[in-house]
Amino acid sequence: MDNQWFQLGYLVSAGFFIFGLKMLGHPRTAPRGNQFGAIGMLIAVITVLLETDLVASPLLIIAGILTGTIIGTWLAVKVEMTGMPELVALFNGFGGAASALVALAEVYSAVQSEAIPRGLELHVAWSAIGLSALVGWMTLTGSLVAFAKLKGGFNILGKWRRFPTWGPPWLNPVKAISVIAAIALIYISVITPDDLNIIWGLIALSCILGVILVMPIGGADMPVVVSLLNSLSGIAAAFTGFIISNPVLIIAGSLVGASGLILTFIMCKAMNRRLVDVLFKSFGGTEKESVTRTKVGSDPDEVAMILDGAEKVIIVPGYGMAVSQCQHQVKEFADLLVEKFGTEVKYAIHPVAGRMPGHMNVLLAEASVPYDQLIEMDEINPELPEADAAIIIGANDTCNPVARSSEGPLAGMPIIDADLARTVVIVKRSLSVGYAGVDNDLFYMDKTMMLFGDGKKMMTALNTAIKES
Ligand code: TAP
Repeated sequence: MDNQWFQLGYLVSAGFFIFGLKMLGHPRTAPRGNQFGAIGMLIAVITVLLETDLVASPLLIIAGILTGTIIGTWLAVKVEMTGMPELVALFNGFGGAASALVALAEVYSAVQSEAIPRGLELHVAWSAIGLSALVGWMTLTGSLVAFAKLKGGFNILGKWRRFPTWGPPWLNPVKAISVIAAIALIYISVITPDDLNIIWGLIALSCILGVILVMPIGGADMPVVVSLLNSLSGIAAAFTGFIISNPVLIIAGSLVGASGLILTFIMCKAMNRRLVDVLFKSFGGTEKESVTRTKVGSDPDEVAMILDGAEKVIIVPGYGMAVSQCQHQVKEFADLLVEKFGTEVKYAIHPVAGRMPGHMNVLLAEASVPYDQLIEMDEINPELPEADAAIIIGANDTCNPVARSSEGPLAGMPIIDADLARTVVIVKRSLSVGYAGVDNDLFYMDKTMMLFGDGKKMMTALNTAIKES
C-alpha cells in the first residue's frame, strides 16, 4: 500500500485523539470523547499492522489482541468505581513498561544484529532509548507503589497491611544523585552503544528511582503523583515513538504527557502545593492518628427536623459517597428538600474529593444531578456562611479545618468551608480519620450533628424521615 495512505491513517487517528481529548473536558461530552479516543486507537492499530507487515505473523498478533481484549473487558466489568484510581495507576505503570520494553527490544536487536547506527542517528536513537528506559521503568515501579498506597495496603503471607510511607531526610540527596547517575548512564550508553550492561544498569536505577520518588509521598498528595505518573507514561511512549519512527505514538504520547502534566498542575493548585515540594518535601505524614475523642451521634428524625424550613443547603460529597454508592439517595434527598421545603440546594465539589479527578462529578452525573448544581470549591465557599446547613456525605480531609494550619499532611490544602455553615451534618460510619490520616475537629463542634452509619443506609433513613416529617 502507498506510504501516503499510512500517513493519512495516522493523521485521522491523531485527529480522533485530539477531538476526543477536547470532549473529555466536559462531563456532558466526555462519554463521546472516550469513544473518539477508542476509534482513534483502532485506526492507529490497523494502520500500524498494515504498514509494518506484521500480518506476516498473524497468530502472534491475534493472540495478543485476544489476550488484551479479554483482560481489558474483564477489568472494565469487574472494577468498582472506587477501584478506578488503583486501576489507572496500574495502567500508567504498564503503559510506561510497554514503551520501555519496545525501546529495549530495539537496542537488543540492533546489538545482536550488529546494526548499531552511527553518527547523529546513533546519538538520537540511543538518547531516546535511554530516556524511554528511564521514564518507562521509573513509571512502572512508581505506579506499583502508588497502586499499593491507593489500595491501602499490601499482602504479606495472606494478610493485608497498610503500605508504609517512608522518607527519611537523607533520601532527597539520594534521589538527586540517582537522577544525575541515570543521565550519566544514558550518556555512557551513547558512547558505548554495544554494551548492554549499561542499559541493564539504567533499568535497575530507574526502577529504584520510581520507588524512592513515590514512597515518601502519602497523606493527601497522591492525586498529584497519580497524574504525574500518567504524564510520564505518555512521555515514555513519545520517546519510543521516536525510536521506532511511529508518528502516531509520538502524537498520542505527547498528548498524554502534556494533558497529564496540565492535570498535575491543576492538582498541585487544588492542594496548594508546588510540584517540587510534593516530590521532595514529603507532606505525607506517616501513621494514621488514633482517635480518642468521642461524640454522641444524632438520628435521622432529628436532622429532618433541623432541615424543615431550611432556605439553603449545601451538600458536600466525598469518598464515602463513592464507597457506599449512595449518589441516587443523595439526589433523592436534594429533590425532597426542594419539593417539601422549597430549599435551595447546591453541591460543593472539592477538586480532590474521592480518589480520582472528577470522581464526584461522575457519580452525581450518574444520578442525574444537573451540572449547574455542581459548584467548584472556590465558587461555593463564599456561600457557605449563609447556608442553613452543610450536609457532608463521606467527605473528611476535603473539609477538615486543620488544613488551615501550617502543620501536618493537610497543611495549606484549600478546603470546603463547611464549618462556616449554620449547622453541619456529617454522614459517616465512625469518627475515624480520612485518607490523610488526620483527626477532624469539625466532628466535635457544637453545631455538628453526626449521622453514624453507611452512607446509603443513612441517606435512605434521612429521606424517609423527611417524607414523614
Ligand atoms: P476522605 O478524607 O478519604 O474520607 C472519606 C471518609 O468516608 C472516611 O473518613 C470514611 O469514614 C467515610 N466512609 C467510608 N466508607 C463509607 C461508607 N460506606 N459510608 C459513609 N462514609 C464512609 O475523603 P475526601 O474528603 O473525599 O478526601 C479525599 C482524600 O483522598 C484526600 O485526602 C485526597 O487528597 C485523597 N486522594 C484523592 C485523589 C483524587 S485524584 N481525588 C486520589 C488519591 C487520594 P468512616 O470510615 O468513619 O465511615
